Amino acid sequence: MKRLVSKIDSSAPVNPDGNAAALIPSRPTISRLREAASVCKACTLWKNATQTVFGEGSPASRIMFVGEQPGDQEDRAGRPFVGPAGKVFDEALAEVGLDRAQVYVTNVVKHFKWVPAPRGKRRIHKKPRYSEIHACRPWLEAEISAVKPQAVVCLGATAAQALFGKQFSITRHRGQRIDSPLAPFAIATVHPSSILRAQDSESRHQQMRAFVNDLRQVALQTTKNQAA
Ligand code: URA
Repeated sequence: MKRLVSKIDSSAPVNPDGNAAALIPSRPTISRLREAASVCKACTLWKNATQTVFGEGSPASRIMFVGEQPGDQEDRAGRPFVGPAGKVFDEALAEVGLDRAQVYVTNVVKHFKWVPAPRGKRRIHKKPRYSEIHACRPWLEAEISAVKPQAVVCLGATAAQALFGKQFSITRHRGQRIDSPLAPFAIATVHPSSILRAQDSESRHQQMRAFVNDLRQVALQTTKNQAA
């Protein structure tokens, strides 16, 4: 299988507000990290969010999935991928014989970034800025160090560019194994919300098949590594 070589993107401008590094506890287990992150103010996103949405799953998971940031429902529930995109994700996991209890799921940014809808009460998701991703990054790095997954799977361009470099293109490189210091197996695929935006049911079905195929590769690879 052709592999891409990625370097952790070190071209991030220094965040004038700093980042969350100073908040990382000593002996950082997932539960200690979650507690410390609950009061994170390393960027300004905490101001409009209900709470920090930290990663979730067994610290012994072999697979870590990384999304962009919590959405509206995740912000209210305090848990990642529990809204509509999470349902698509769960469906795809089930198709490859995995469930949430076996994997660790997190986001590059731990607070919901949103703007009010022009009319009504809806909160519209807003893509995080590079400085916000940079501010939040120590949490993700600490999660990866604590879980030590066999596979890191980026869901969508924001996660993939944060972890594999700004030039990373999901269109060109989805489903390709990436050489990364983060885990023995690293890969990026589409964000499940993109499947929800498909134009019609045929294209939704086809995009779901491709997403499931990417996840199947991950499931097979981690089973293989476990057997080795
Ligand atoms: N989208 C994400 O990237 N993460 C979530 O937790 C929910 C939606």
